[in-house]
Amino acid sequence: MALLKVGVLASGRGSNLQSIIDSCQRGEINAEVKVVISDSRDAYALRRAEKYGIDAYFVNVKEYPDKAAYEARIVEILKQYQVELVCLAGYMRLVGSTVLKAFPWRIMNIHPSLLPAFPGLHAQRQALDHGVKISGCTVHFVDEGMDTGPIILQAAVPVYDDDTEESLAERILEQEHKIYPQAVGLFADGRLQLVGKKVIINGGKKNY
Ligand code: GAR
Repeated sequence: MALLKVGVLASGRGSNLQSIIDSCQRGEINAEVKVVISDSRDAYALRRAEKYGIDAYFVNVKEYPDKAAYEARIVEILKQYQVELVCLAGYMRLVGSTVLKAFPWRIMNIHPSLLPAFPGLHAQRQALDHGVKISGCTVHFVDEGMDTGPIILQAAVPVYDDDTEESLAERILEQEHKIYPQAVGLFADGRLQLVGKKVIINGGKKNY
């Protein structure tokens, strides 16, 4: 079976990128990461990619006249690697129409809350400030909104009275590293079907 060609956009540490690479390498999912692109020169995600011999690009937004031109360069790189699925992994920019149009319903994101609660920045702090007892993470398809696209997988974690933003983030991250590769694997196996706003998971025995 041919492996799904994945391109990853990341702005920082890249631990979610790592979890996808690990799953691919262990043969748990029918996918391979072909290219990693970052908007930050110092992103550790780029170093991780290089460590595995995966081509890594820094695309400097400041070198482009506008967002469309910046995104056109990103699309150019992704197409060069014949990417079939784009994974946002801690990519801290809103994806614009240039990338969206090039990869319709072929872009996923991971967000550290149970969407639609707490979209945008500092999701864990938002959860603590709100006093929720349960939080978690969400993998979703990306649409033009901020963390608004169709939900693919979610995982819940408890929120404790003495949690800090860091302790909650760490508990959530552990789940992120499980469900992001799972979602990529489901996509690779053609099991995700979009019906309106809902993502149906077809076939297989595993109950998500
Ligand atoms: C992750 O917690 C991810 O869910 C979050 O940034 C972190 C990136 O970590 N993403 C967002 O908040 C997007 N709105 P990583 O670089 O180690 O994968």
